[in-house]
Amino acid sequence: SQYRIAVIVGSLRKDSFNRKLARALEKLGPAEFSFEDLDVGGLPLYNQDNDANQAESVKQFKSRIKEAQGVIFVTPEYNRSIPGVLKNAIDNASRPYGQNAFAGKPAGILGISIGAIGTSLAQQHLRNVAAYLDMPTLNQPEVFLQAKEGFFDATGDIGNADTRKFLQGWMNAYAAWVKKNN
Ligand code: FNR
Repeated sequence: SQYRIAVIVGSLRKDSFNRKLARALEKLGPAEFSFEDLDVGGLPLYNQDNDANQAESVKQFKSRIKEAQGVIFVTPEYNRSIPGVLKNAIDNASRPYGQNAFAGKPAGILGISIGAIGTSLAQQHLRNVAAYLDMPTLNQPEVFLQAKEGFFDATGDIGNADTRKFLQGWMNAYAAWVKKNN
């Protein structure tokens, strides 16, 4: 399709709510958009000594991002910030210096958590990181979701019709943002 979006989920958990959210969200994308989930669990711990000789998994990860027209981050909040696995993936793809794969890629940031503030603090930290990575990041609407019983229905879709409509609105805004920034 015309617009390929790299989706990065900040959780390795098998039954991750954030991965489920990513899946549900991808179904709301316009016809000319496709989504590819990037694996962050197989990346090595970032070590600057390896900048000149990055692991194959890092090179693959970076080329997926470079080929994409945008990046969506769907992340939990860990201890009021982003999980280490996500930061590690970002650090890997941002280097070596001058070869930051994220530069210029329109970003979308969402998250779902158990807590009532719905990953808002993690997202604020991630916005700071995205600014440094030179990613034009969609500001509104913001998406702070709390995982409750029935949030996802049996087929993995968003259970509540109003929430589904809200996320469709987010996707429409993000799609427009991607088009504007490509
Ligand atoms: C959490 N959790 C959590 N929730 C939250 O709203 N704010 C927080 O700061 C934290 N901190 C935190 C730290 C650590 C180490 C863990 C393991 C968990 C709870 C979190 O929202 C919950 O585990 C989610 O289910 C994580 O998202 P996934 O894995 O379901 O996508």
